[in-house]
This record gives sequence, C-alpha cells and structure tokens, in this order.
Amino acid sequence: MSDAVKLPLKKGFGKTDRIDKWWTKPFWMGFGLTLALVYTALRVVVWDGAIHYDEHRVTSPIFSPDVIHLFDLKTPNWMNSALLILWIPFGFRGTCYYMRKVYHRVFFQNPTACVVAKPEVNYRIGYKGETGLFVLNNIHRYMLYLAIIILSMKVYDVYHTMWFNDGTEFGISIGTLVLATESILLFMYVASCHAFRHLFGGGMNQWRGGISGIMGKLYIKISNLNIEHAFWFWTSLVMVFLGDLFVLAVAEGILTDIRIM
Ligand code: FES
Repeated sequence: MSDAVKLPLKKGFGKTDRIDKWWTKPFWMGFGLTLALVYTALRVVVWDGAIHYDEHRVTSPIFSPDVIHLFDLKTPNWMNSALLILWIPFGFRGTCYYMRKVYHRVFFQNPTACVVAKPEVNYRIGYKGETGLFVLNNIHRYMLYLAIIILSMKVYDVYHTMWFNDGTEFGISIGTLVLATESILLFMYVASCHAFRHLFGGGMNQWRGGISGIMGKLYIKISNLNIEHAFWFWTSLVMVFLGDLFVLAVAEGILTDIRIM
C-alpha cells in the first residue's frame, strides 16, 4: 500500500495558501532567460559587426572563442564565430540540472511552484522525467567536456588581451579584467556542475586511501561549490552580456578601454 500523502492543494492555476511572493523569483528568471535569448539572437544575426577591438586583442564573450579568426577559417560573409560555437554553451546550459528546474517551472509551469496549483492540463500530462525529447538531457556530461574546451580557449582569450601593439608589449586593460571576470565566473559555473563532480570520485565504490581518498576529498570540495550552482549559473550568464556590451561600446567608440598597466 502506498504511503503517499496528498497535500491539501487548492484547485485552479496559481491558487495557493502561500502568503509569500512566490512568483517573484520565477518571474525574474523567465524575464532574464527571455532577454538573454532575444539579445543573443539580435546580436548574432543583426548586430554582429563590432565583436572585437584593437585588431582582435579583445573579443566579445558571445563570439569567443573567435574560431574563424583563430583558425583562419574560410566562411561565407554572413557567418560569424558565434553561429559556429554557440551550440556548445547553449547545449551545456540547456541540459544543466539547475536549468531543467528553471524551465520546467517557469516556461512549462509543471510544477508552477511548491504548494501552488499548476495549470489543469499539466495534471493530466503529469511529469514523465527524462523521456521523449527530454532524454536529450542525458548528453549533459558530454556537453561538459566541450564546455571545458571552450573554457580553456577563453582563458587563452584573456591572455591574448594582455599583449598590445601586435603582441610586442605586455599590459593589462579594463578589457582584460572584464574577460578575466567572465572566465572566472564561467570556471566556477563549470566547477560546480553536478556532472563535473561525478568525474571526481562519483563512480568509485569507496573513498579510502591513495587515489580514491584524494578523489573523495575533491568530490566533497566540489559538492560545496555545487551548493551555489544557481548563483554561478546566473552570474556567469550575466557577465557574458556585460562583457559583450563593454566590447560593443569600445568597438563603437562610446567607451575607451583604459590601459592600467
Ligand atoms: Fe549545471 Fe552541469 S549541472 S552545468
């Protein structure tokens, strides 16, 4: 016999006994993700002119790594590096465990929130987990490997910002700090990933002695980072767009990238 206890939930979409402002967080999450998608689409398709400055010394995080420039690829005029590489960050973030929670709640309203009634149709559909199209979420661990490659290329991008005058002079500018901040936040997002944690001892039977002991310690450390995974998700995402706006403003002559060293 099932021990499941049904909570006394009110009927009707959005009905609840909760007295807090439960809708605030989902609203801002939905607003933020929609804005990010619309901005990215416009920037990549319509305003893709000013994506770097100082002869590629600093490149926008949306278009970084600028693979077309790095590997001297021959592509049609309408093509840009974001169109070639964005599927990786999109695939990585789109299959992120935290992101799944966000889109199920915000966009599908299934569930709407804890102890808040969802749309009637979702009671009929129910929650089927990772079945149907959602089975694609299982590629997350592979997207992690690709995200690690992108992250290392971004670290190279930061290093690249430190070479002025055709690579003859070393220095640091605001642009360096902007890209470095973006890379650090992205590193924290990747390092706090559930699949990343699994790489360090997640598949072991014990964490005692030798390598397995070290892996166990790493697993616990990454688990501590994982607690704040949502924070790193949002801060790293916001920094991509702040970084892009900075590069756009400098490339268009609205701001100056001040050299501080
Ligand atoms: Fe969020 Fe892996 S679980 S990035």
